[in-house]
Amino acid sequence: PITSMKVLADSLLSQEGVPAELYREFLVDIAAEIERENKIINDLLALVKMDKKASALNITTVDINELLEMLLKRLRPLAAKRNIEIVFESFRPVSAEIDEVKFSLAFSNLVENAIKYNVDNGWIRVSLNADHKFFYVKIADSGVGIPEDCQDQIFERFYRVDKARSRETGGTGLGLSITRNAILMHKGAIKLYSKEGEGTTFTIRIPLNYVV
Ligand SMILES: Nc1ncnc2c1ncn2[C@@H]1O[C@H](COP(=O)(O)OP(=O)(O)OP(=O)(O)O)[C@@H](O)[C@H]1O
Ligand SMILES: [Mg+2]
Repeated sequence: PITSMKVLADSLLSQEGVPAELYREFLVDIAAEIERENKIINDLLALVKMDKKASALNITTVDINELLEMLLKRLRPLAAKRNIEIVFESFRPVSAEIDEVKFSLAFSNLVENAIKYNVDNGWIRVSLNADHKFFYVKIADSGVGIPEDCQDQIFERFYRVDKARSRETGGTGLGLSITRNAILMHKGAIKLYSKEGEGTTFTIRIPLNYVV
């Protein structure tokens, strides 16, 4: 983004008598790049914070059903723009000891991806279940899928499948590494099942009780 901003600014500065509309147009682009830069910095800060050992977790007992409902409510308008339906299914009431902020970030990143890499008029199914030890969250989408040979790299920082395609959708490739870090800090696990052109399912497993 910094490079883009510099190029945009330089090209305006190098010309004389630039019409006001062109200034406007370039400033719109510069503003968009600033926003992108801001997101990268925030994501990196989130990652750095999570590198500081598990003692940084702020554990409280949270009603997971309520939390997921609330987070999905926030994300539905984004999905509605492309007529993507989000269905939430809960098999039982779940209450667990988690860091609400970090877990929310992990979950929201997954749903944001499920929206971003979906098709218009697609669907997303979120489900919640638990046994005596863990709770399980599944996020399935009807999107473009992830090619098998990329599935191992997907959680790496800055990794994005098909840079050209994902350039239009925006993003930096930090989302999934933040998600995985947050899940691992909870001593949980995350898995992915995906088929190109059919869709992707992420499953999360987190202990109900946090043990240091
Ligand atoms: N549900 C999904 N369906 C298809 N591809 C996905 C899905 N989730 C992630 N991907 C692929 O994995 C890549 C990495 O995802 P990640 O969330 O880390 O980064 P991003 O979405 O590109 O950017 P950011 O989340 O930082 O804004 C994405 O660029 C995309 O190619
Ligand atoms: Mg993402």
